[in-house]
This record gives sequence, C-alpha cells and structure tokens, in this order.
Amino acid sequence: MEKKLKIGMFGFGCVGQGLYDIFTKTDFQAEIQLICVKDKSKKRSIDASYFTYEKDDILDNPEINLVVEMIDDAEAAYEIVKKALLKGKNVVTANKKMVALHIEELVEIQQQTGTSLLYEAAACGSIPIIRTLAEYYDNEWLYSVSGIFNGTSNYILTKVIQENLDYPTALKQAQELGFAETDPTADVGAFDPLYKLCLVVAQAYGKFIPPQEIFNYGISSLAPQDIQYAKEKGLKIKLIAAVSKVEDREITLSVMPYFVDAKHYLYNVENEYNGVVVEAAFSDKQIFIGKGAGGHPTGSAVLSDISACRYDYRYEYRKAHQQEAISYTRHYPIEVYLRYQDERDIADIDFYEISEQHIAKEFKYVIAVISLEQLFELKTDLPQRNIFIANTGRRVAREVLLGTLENKIAVSDFI
Ligand code: HSE
Repeated sequence: MEKKLKIGMFGFGCVGQGLYDIFTKTDFQAEIQLICVKDKSKKRSIDASYFTYEKDDILDNPEINLVVEMIDDAEAAYEIVKKALLKGKNVVTANKKMVALHIEELVEIQQQTGTSLLYEAAACGSIPIIRTLAEYYDNEWLYSVSGIFNGTSNYILTKVIQENLDYPTALKQAQELGFAETDPTADVGAFDPLYKLCLVVAQAYGKFIPPQEIFNYGISSLAPQDIQYAKEKGLKIKLIAAVSKVEDREITLSVMPYFVDAKHYLYNVENEYNGVVVEAAFSDKQIFIGKGAGGHPTGSAVLSDISACRYDYRYEYRKAHQQEAISYTRHYPIEVYLRYQDERDIADIDFYEISEQHIAKEFKYVIAVISLEQLFELKTDLPQRNIFIANTGRRVAREVLLGTLENKIAVSDFI
C-alpha cells in the first residue's frame, strides 16, 4: 500500500535545491514539512517558513516519517541518520562517507527497527547502481564491478587530457559547476570514489569493508609528462574504483588511476559522467553510464529513493547472509606505470617484473608489477611524494608475488 510521505530534509545545498526543483517540476506527491540548515545568514530561494536550524525539530517530530539527509558533514549526518532510524523514521541519504564509515552499524539498526536506509544518490549520481546490484544481481556471482565513480576527477581528466586545459582551471570549473565536494581533496585524492566503492561492495558481495582497509590513490600528482606519455600511446587516464573476484570466494579492491585504450568500455566516458561495468557469471558484461555529479542528476536519485519509501522498500543485503563467507585480500599483483622525480621516493618499493624504465632529468618512470598490499602500506605516505601511479590494466598472475626474494627487484639495481 502506498504510504503518505511527510519529509524532513537536512541540507539545502546543490543536491537539496536540485531535489526541490525536481519536486516543483513533477507531480510527485510528498509533503516537505521542514528543512534543517546550518547557516542562518544565507539567503534562501524558497519561503523562510520551510527552514529550521534545530535538528530535533525534525527528528522529534512524530508526523515526519521520512528523513532526507543531504549535508556534507559525515559525522553530523551520522548522528542525524542514527537518531532518525532509532525513532522509527525511514532515511534517504546522499552521504557516501557517512554510509561507508558506519554501514555495518546502520544496517543493524535498520534491521532492529524495521526501518529503511536508502542511499542510491550516494554512489554514482544518477546511475541506479545500488538498487540494481541489490535487486537484479542478488543471486548472481559477480566477477567484478568497476568504473568511474567520481565526476569531478573525470571532468578534470577530460579537460586536461582532451582539451589541454590546465589542472587548476579544470578543478575550478568543476567546483563552479557544483560537482566537487566542499574539500576537493575528497575528489582528486580518490576518497569520494573510495566511499562509493564500499557501498557497491556491500551490495555486490554482501561485505562491509571499512574504507581505511582499501588502497586509494588520486590524480593530484598528475603531471604534463604523464599526459604526454598517455597521449603518445593512444591511451586515456581514468580514475577507476574496482572490486574483482580473484579466487572462488575472494575479492580484491582498489581505487586508482588507470590507463585505458580505445577498446575499453570507459574510454569514452567523459566530463562529469560516471560509468560502471558489471561482469557477472551469466549476464556477462553490462555497462551503465550517466551523470555522476550535479544537483539534478543526484537529486533524481534521491527522488527515486523517496519514491521507493512510499512502498517501504529496503535493501535486504541478501549476499551478506549467504553461507560461504567471502574474504578480502590485498595480496595481489598489479602492473603500474610509476612516474617519479627522486629515486629516494621509490627506494622502499619492491618491484617485480620491470618491463620498461625511462630515466631522464625531467621524466623518470618505471612500468613494473607491484603488490597492492605494499601500496596499501604506503597509503598515507605516497601523497607526500612526487609520484604519479597508474594501473596499466594488464592482468598479472598471482604467482609473480610468490618466491618474493628471488623475484624482487629494486629500481636502484637498474640505475
Ligand atoms: N563530488 C562528487 C563527484 C559528487 O564529483 O562525483 C557526487 O558524488
């Protein structure tokens, strides 16, 4: 039976206003009772009677049965969402960081309270990947889910590689267009797609992996030499988040730049568009492309979740309840292009199978196999070094990492 929705909204920024605008342009039946915002001095585009500055005006209001959370402070969002669920209200959120950091607890509260927590808008904007994974692929064993999960970095890469724009100008444009997070490090440092990957993995494999456990590396160290290298080889650079099956019940995850050639499904996914490639045992390869950022595209995903709440739809996490547990590994080899400035920055990295190396005063790089675990161990340190890393996409046999000592080569051996 269709439920009458009485909505309390949190946040009236880019996504909140996009959603409100969609409401006014459609005949969707829902009543926005209150909107909680932080900034009292900000001029609002709609009537002042909609607004409150006190979150409990919504959370303690028994008439409000749906909380729509669209603020960008993950910790404040967590408090709001948790209290709303505990008060028996359904919640729709767009906050990927908050969900990624607290998913296990929030899913438990959802189950205990019989409420629903939906977050389609938190992953890949307008692409309905969360519900698709939750419903369509709920019984199928997936080989991989990978893609461009961040509109801002894809916009920047498109502009600097295809249109020769400089990086700061491209980033500024992405900010002006409302694609970037308040702190764009989340985008260019690959944290935003990292959080989205956690949500995708929860649905695709029923596994709640904390973001701190996953290797992520962004595009902020991208240099003209990297762009020149890619162009000369007919490649593009894309920031790709990926989860792949590496053994029967074992998966590996990463978020990092990749070189992609013209045959790759994501090669032509440009600007703020996102693209998700799902590889499954029986349905084979499928690709989803759509706008991954911006008020209206993200607002449309929020609207779809709100609509689903009319029928008490909830994610069931069926794969989390499967008998055979899935394990997560970082002990996996990947082949990377690693451009560096100073040998000291790579002295502590073990390379296996170096296939190419170039050493000139202004341009030094190595193409070699490396262990994902080792990159993970250096995760917090790497952004301080002047190096750019891109996965070449070549699949490497796991055995390369075995017999470590014999195979391990320090780049200094070649210098
Ligand atoms: N900053 C995000 C992006 C917004 O660029 O993809 C949508 O999550």
